[in-house]
Amino acid sequence: MGIISWLKQSFTCPFAKHDSEACSQGENIPINQGGSVSDPSLGFLATIKQVEDKYPLLPQPAMPDANDPKYAGNPTAYTQDKQAYDAALEAFATAAKERGVAVAGVMGLWLATKPLAMLQELLDQPKATMPIFSPAVGPVIVMRHEHVIKCLERTDLFTVDRYAAEMARATDDKAKCPAAFSHFMLGTDNDELYRLDGVLLRHAVTPNDKALLTMIARKAANDWLDATRSSGADTVDIVATIARDVPLRIVSEYLGVPGYNKGEPSVLPGLKGGDVMPLSDSLQKVFTFQKISQGIVPTWDHLHDWIQDAFRNIFNNGNPASPDFQGFRDRGIIATEYLSNYVHELIQLYKGKLNAGEKIPDTMLTRLLRLQADVLANRASALEKDFADLLGQPLPAGELAKRLSDSMIRSNVFGTAVGAVANPQEAMTWITDALLRLKEGKYKARPSSTYDRAVNLANAPDDDPKSAEASEELRKYALEALRLQPQGEVVLRVCVKDNTELGNVLIRKGTVVFVAHAAAMRDKTVIKQPLSFDVKRDEHLTAYLGNGDRKKECPQSQIYLQHGYGRHKCLGRYASEITMQESLRAILRLGGITRQSEVIMDAQNNYPVSFKINFTCKD
Ligand code: HEM
Repeated sequence: MGIISWLKQSFTCPFAKHDSEACSQGENIPINQGGSVSDPSLGFLATIKQVEDKYPLLPQPAMPDANDPKYAGNPTAYTQDKQAYDAALEAFATAAKERGVAVAGVMGLWLATKPLAMLQELLDQPKATMPIFSPAVGPVIVMRHEHVIKCLERTDLFTVDRYAAEMARATDDKAKCPAAFSHFMLGTDNDELYRLDGVLLRHAVTPNDKALLTMIARKAANDWLDATRSSGADTVDIVATIARDVPLRIVSEYLGVPGYNKGEPSVLPGLKGGDVMPLSDSLQKVFTFQKISQGIVPTWDHLHDWIQDAFRNIFNNGNPASPDFQGFRDRGIIATEYLSNYVHELIQLYKGKLNAGEKIPDTMLTRLLRLQADVLANRASALEKDFADLLGQPLPAGELAKRLSDSMIRSNVFGTAVGAVANPQEAMTWITDALLRLKEGKYKARPSSTYDRAVNLANAPDDDPKSAEASEELRKYALEALRLQPQGEVVLRVCVKDNTELGNVLIRKGTVVFVAHAAAMRDKTVIKQPLSFDVKRDEHLTAYLGNGDRKKECPQSQIYLQHGYGRHKCLGRYASEITMQESLRAILRLGGITRQSEVIMDAQNNYPVSFKINFTCKD
């Protein structure tokens, strides 16, 4: 399931303080598939113990002190002891590294293949003895609700730095443009960079768009429903159709990055879907194209594949030893270049139309352009004041204009679009799977949370006065389904302060932390009967920074953590929840759905490739 696979193989050596150089090679170690020490019948902790026994740590050698009186007048003795110490230190570091490789390999394998079993086993350990999972060598896993929330709230202690490098690919080239920003919001916890971008983007993507988003998602889902019903078939693949098409329509019509059928006229003058176009001269002044020599007006397939390739390169491709690494990296770069060129062309198009007073669609991209125009025309003093009030400090002169440059709009629209397809596509696949499990009696369901009730809600006519209530309940069905069948189990953080305390365990600076939000959603100390399907759960809504940066945001759920929590709470959460609710409505409206297969994942177990369901068109 959509785990962050590259992170599973990186860890920080706990002895880094003593010998950082020797241990630093623990970065990007190859995955150990368990080999002879991994017995599939063993639990996670027993497997970890096996590898730890197989790779014992050596005692840390003590460095000889040249001032020790025993060396007085005997430099040869000191030299011999120092040589022995150096050799012992090397052996110590090698043993630690081997152990780290083996431990990280077991973690990687379990996260890739049996994440929920692993997380449940960790949750089931007594809290007093295992508040978090912190092996002597290797990454930390944080599974309990209170610690997950702390990791996601305390951006001064746990940061998203590990996401940054590949995200910077879509920004301007520092060699061409030394003053260029090279961050995207999900790759930085630097307050100076994050907070203003966060406020700006949340001004363009807001809770007030519910009606617009519902209209876009419902239309896309109904188009799928009509096409599926009239296809004459009685089977449909969820992954290849609705789970992909509704998010793409959100990217197209809400974010403002449209896809086309091949040959269909595009918004770019004279160009049709699938046409090639020259690379933009103005973009080449600030951005270096390494791989492509001409751009493309994307068909829906292009748009999907660019977004997926860029997403995989950022979140699922961090192990250079993997045989897939270079191929995925190349595809990620190519996708980033095509998408950046296209978004740049759209910016130039709409900027021109805006300046000419022409009507333009209302999208994230054009909202940012309107803000840019207001700032450039000195019409943004109210906005500046509004932002300064939210942030609790005045904005530095000229800062808003810098954050609303064409380049920043390009990379922010790029980054947001990249988040807007792979996750929703996988999420909708697992939601459908979970609903079928509910139908198959695999969950204990509360009377208010049955499969039949979901079907009734889905069939509420649009003009029914209770239609909005029905949609809201379907949203809860989707969230509850995804809580039980999550599309992602962990988000990644790195500890940035030495001796950070979590559950009375001290974590070293530099330690990679897997923050298991999927486990927190099953922590029975907070979530009653966590393995039951219950759409009536209190969402535990909490106003995160409700008096400041996030005053205009909806409160965040502390129960449904699929979209993260705290600062990096998904920017697309409103779009995403409405996509899930409307897609689920259409799927249940098909009538009589049953599974034809299990969900089939790709070779890396990162993305679903197929999930076929049967339908009867009646219930
Ligand atoms: C079911 C669908 C989705 C899921 C499960 C999901 C999940 C997440 C999660 C877990 C995070 C936080 C990552 C972290 O803390 O490390 C996140 C952040 C983000 N998501 Fe989503 N997402 C979804 C859909 C979307 C959509 C539709 C968009 C765009 C319209 C989007 C854009 C973003 C952005 C820009 C961030 C970064 C926010 C920040 O750093 O402040 N996501 N998402």
